[in-house]
Amino acid sequence: MDHHITICTSCRHLGTACRPGYELIARLRAAITTAGDAVTDSFEVSGVACMAGCDRPCTVAYHGTRKATYLFGDIDPDTDIEDLLAFARLYADLEDGWCSSLDRPGKLRDTTLARVPAAMLAIETGKVRAS
Ligand code: FES
Repeated sequence: MDHHITICTSCRHLGTACRPGYELIARLRAAITTAGDAVTDSFEVSGVACMAGCDRPCTVAYHGTRKATYLFGDIDPDTDIEDLLAFARLYADLEDGWCSSLDRPGKLRDTTLARVPAAMLAIETGKVRAS
């Protein structure tokens, strides 16, 4: 697998004890499996206890070798699976993982908490990334 999606399993729906991360993992895995395209073969989905975005549940991160890392917040398993799948397709096609908010699908345009350049690109002197 070249790409990884990490989902917080500790996030709670605001004001409730419900932890939707496990449902999000199950639904996204199912969507990736049934996609039947390059995403099916190149993405793995797993959970982690917390990604320090606790005020914006659920949080979801995209990682790839030599690619920018993204952290999204406010993700809901009932409404956002298609946007997550669409971003997986986009992310897989980007050589360095870098894209502007306008390129991100649907809700992900407005719910990006962080975009961190790949370590190799971050240390290249004189290289400035446009958004
Ligand atoms: S509890 Fe989900 S990011 Fe902290």
